Amino acid sequence: MVSKDVKADDVVATLGDVCAARGLDALTARLAALQTLLAGDLAEVEAALAVVAKNGGTPAHESARHLLELGGKRLRPICVALASHVGSGFTPAALTFAVAVEMIHNATLLHDDVVDLGDRRRGADTARVVYGNAASIFGGDWLLAEALCRVQAAGVEGVLDRMLVVVREMVTAETLQLAARGRVRTSTSEYFKIVQGKTASLFQWAMFAGGRAGGVGTRECEALESYGGMLGLAFQIVDDVLDFAGDPEATGKDLLTDLREGKMTYPLLLAVERDPGLADELEANCRGDEVSVTPEIARRIGRVMSEGGVVQDCLALATRMCRDAAQSLEILPASQARSALQDVALATPLRRK
Ligand code: FPP
Ligand code: MG
Repeated sequence: MVSKDVKADDVVATLGDVCAARGLDALTARLAALQTLLAGDLAEVEAALAVVAKNGGTPAHESARHLLELGGKRLRPICVALASHVGSGFTPAALTFAVAVEMIHNATLLHDDVVDLGDRRRGADTARVVYGNAASIFGGDWLLAEALCRVQAAGVEGVLDRMLVVVREMVTAETLQLAARGRVRTSTSEYFKIVQGKTASLFQWAMFAGGRAGGVGTRECEALESYGGMLGLAFQIVDDVLDFAGDPEATGKDLLTDLREGKMTYPLLLAVERDPGLADELEANCRGDEVSVTPEIARRIGRVMSEGGVVQDCLALATRMCRDAAQSLEILPASQARSALQDVALATPLRRK
């Protein structure tokens, strides 16, 4: 087991806890069954990631090890595994893709924390704080290159090609996001363009790769991809809500980080829509492309968000997207994997971490 204190299937357990707390007994029970279904697959993923984490002794390798060993939700490997079970099951290629998608996700975070000057992730200091920016960047580069080689070696037609397009999409989205920093008057369409590239595209790939590894047909793979895209968008909306309304103990990240970074996330865009005067105040607090978050502006945003029902509206949109994601799988024959994917989607807007 790689993680020190976070289990790989933690996300399912957490979703289950949240559902139980909300009295969603049927969903809680189904998520528990999902944990059982995936226990063997995820143990294999963890074992393989532990081997990856042992690699090399340079500060770059230490950076990658640092992040991998902190665990995480492993939601992308869960997507690969469930998509593979829509077909013939968790084949060796599916294991490769599940490990690769987690490596790539971690690579993006090692880069992202340098770009965002992030100090805390997964409840710990970021790799860049511990080992420095250069080590974090090269650790990410190494994970990315290693993952691409593994995807290529798996030799499943079309999967590497699609991955290369996704890498390009992620980089393009991040460059757009960087250029948009501190630009208070932006649009929701710009936001969704960025989120599609930086988050949804990798979920889409996870579903596609899992489906292909399990020998799923073209039309079914398209449904899996479409599910991944909608799940990814909803996942990021919830992430952005947690920046304002989350519990740092649960998320492992500091509150209001996106705001400080001058990122106009969906909750903030809705707050500005509810109270256009807020845009002027945010602009007045911009220092370069960052926002200086005074207690006054934090209180003001909190007030607009609570009076305007912003968190509820964001979560309502995420819920609609997740319902659409679940619905998109209806063209697949009924199976335990299909139901499990639908349950993951229904539980995603409820996540706390
Ligand atoms: C976290 O977003 C970051 C991403 C979802 C993607 C980051 C992608 C890159 C840096 C470019 C591609 C890099 C590689 C290695 C292919 P966030 O900052 O909104 O979330 P956070 O709160 O978790 O930091
Ligand atoms: Mg970040």
